[in-house]
Amino acid sequence: MKTQTTNFEISEQGYYGNFGGAFVSEQLMNCTKQLAADYLKYINDADFQQEFRELLHDYVGRPTPLYRSEKLSQMYGCTIYLKREDLNHTGAHKINNAIGQALMAKRRGARRIVAETGAGQHGVATATACALLNLDCTIFMGAEDIVRQHSNVQKMKLLGARIVSVTEGSGTLENAVDAALREWSQHPEDTYYLLGSAVGPHPFPDMVMRFQSIISEEMRQQLLTKEGKELPDYVIACIGGGSNATGSFSHFLNDLSVRLVLVEAAGRGIESGQTAASLSCGKECVLHGANTLVLTDENGTCLGAYSISAGLDYPGVGPLPAHLVASGRADVIAITDEEALRAAYEVNKLEGILPALESAHALAALKKIDFKPEDIVVLTLSGRGDKDLETYIQYIDLAK
Ligand SMILES: Cc1ncc(COP(=O)(O)O)c(C=O)c1O
Repeated sequence: MKTQTTNFEISEQGYYGNFGGAFVSEQLMNCTKQLAADYLKYINDADFQQEFRELLHDYVGRPTPLYRSEKLSQMYGCTIYLKREDLNHTGAHKINNAIGQALMAKRRGARRIVAETGAGQHGVATATACALLNLDCTIFMGAEDIVRQHSNVQKMKLLGARIVSVTEGSGTLENAVDAALREWSQHPEDTYYLLGSAVGPHPFPDMVMRFQSIISEEMRQQLLTKEGKELPDYVIACIGGGSNATGSFSHFLNDLSVRLVLVEAAGRGIESGQTAASLSCGKECVLHGANTLVLTDENGTCLGAYSISAGLDYPGVGPLPAHLVASGRADVIAITDEEALRAAYEVNKLEGILPALESAHALAALKKIDFKPEDIVVLTLSGRGDKDLETYIQYIDLAK
């Protein structure tokens, strides 16, 4: 097993290589500084861990299965496992982080939670955690996303959350993050901002990865049982901001024999200008408080992102994924809307699993890698496709 001393850990100032930091207003700086000063104390507390692990087990339904897909294995000439985050309560990996941060917020004395959401999965997960833990919940969601993820909006309302429609900019995830950050900075005494991806100012990227790292922790244990060894040859995950990807990679970062593959949304193609491929096309720039790779024009102004998938429709990425790519530790594959749709229809027919549009991007990447027969591949199926049913029906001709 090839291991090296780690250089993928966050520095005290919140950097992975050049990426990260906390570039925020003075008001927000107080919030992030306090959080950076105490988040590890809570997360590493034995009592906290016990409560968190118990909820993951009894409430979320963990461990999620590591499912060996015979048909995909045959199709791609290697051994393919799907890490079934779609089987979590509320239908995606987002609940791991939502429960972790909500528990921590409560212990820190917060009574009110604010969160952003794109696909609505993080919003539903947060509203669920708030219902469970008796916390007031407000979700900021782009006006455009409210239309395309309608069923999740209804679910959040049923859970008792207040939905704030964000009409600024493109009315998508990027604008919802801005609105939630603003709200947190204006009510720091009783409000906690429960960020849903591994993005934003320090300490969010590290904290979110820690709560999501249960994914790779389980992968290692499950591979040991199923394959007699903990290390696969590939771990593949889709990336919006990077929470399912960093959670899937976390326990493999220093095992250099494991190839890490980030699958981002090319939208209508990376040359089309209608894309969310910030790892392939982004420039170093500050977005939402972190220095990272961002889609910008020649003047350095942040461009709007586009993807058919609301959860990948974000013009930046978290600082760790940016560093993993810049340092050569991870590979990037960009998948178009059409490729993702075709992969979703294919896996649905082959396996009876309808993936979330986000996860369908990871599945489409299988066609772009030249696997060897002995390769063991683990692909994170980050969520289920119920929320995307209307889109799948709209493009049903591609299923033929
Ligand atoms: C099912 C699913 N997968 C992936 C993502 C992308 O987010 P992240 O990169 O933080 O995992 C989302 C975001 O909403 C999602 O709902």
